[in-house]
Amino acid sequence: MKHKINNLGEQDSVFNQFMAEIRDAGVQTDSLRFRRNLERVGELIAYEISKVLGYERQAITTPLGVSECRVLAGQPVLATILRAGLPFHAGFLNYFDQAENTFISAYRIHHNDEDDFDVEIEYLSSPDLEGKTVILCDPMLATGSSMVLAYRALLARGKPRHLHIATVIASAQGIGFLKKHLPSETTIWTGAIDAELTPRSYIVPGLGDAGDLAYGSKK
Ligand code: URA
Repeated sequence: MKHKINNLGEQDSVFNQFMAEIRDAGVQTDSLRFRRNLERVGELIAYEISKVLGYERQAITTPLGVSECRVLAGQPVLATILRAGLPFHAGFLNYFDQAENTFISAYRIHHNDEDDFDVEIEYLSSPDLEGKTVILCDPMLATGSSMVLAYRALLARGKPRHLHIATVIASAQGIGFLKKHLPSETTIWTGAIDAELTPRSYIVPGLGDAGDLAYGSKK
């Protein structure tokens, strides 16, 4: 099977209103609204992913009788990359509220102020992932190298049964990199695919630095 790519921005819906606000330099100055919009996009992608998960029947007792409901057969594990992933991840957790969670730290190290960089993975907090469905979410898929290194770090906790990658804005290059380096049955969910990267690997037009916009600049 080939990688399946779902670009939710291709269809008109209120989803693109949230995407517009996330990108808008004027609206971004309100960091509470920026974080909430990342969360709302996470919620809507979680809802779309929920349509391809497994369900089972459950007899639910109401005050007036019993209703046969179809409920999730199992919760996915929600994995994210610190720190920009946190508000996006919160949106997934709002919908998959019984999910287990994985947190990974990944940061870029630019040597001698050069444009190219290494990605350092330092911290991993995760349940057992063997045979589970994992949603790995990070708002910005630029080169794709953090996502691929994060996935490889996850494998120390077991091999997932299925991997969903969720991102708010992807670059075309980042999508190409994932296709090359992630399992071929991976499903990719994105809000938009932008054409370019700057020499320092920021997505253009993108939205800027998601971590700084959500949590302030860092030294
Ligand atoms: N991370 C960001 O926050 N923005 C980009 O454009 C690329 C990576």
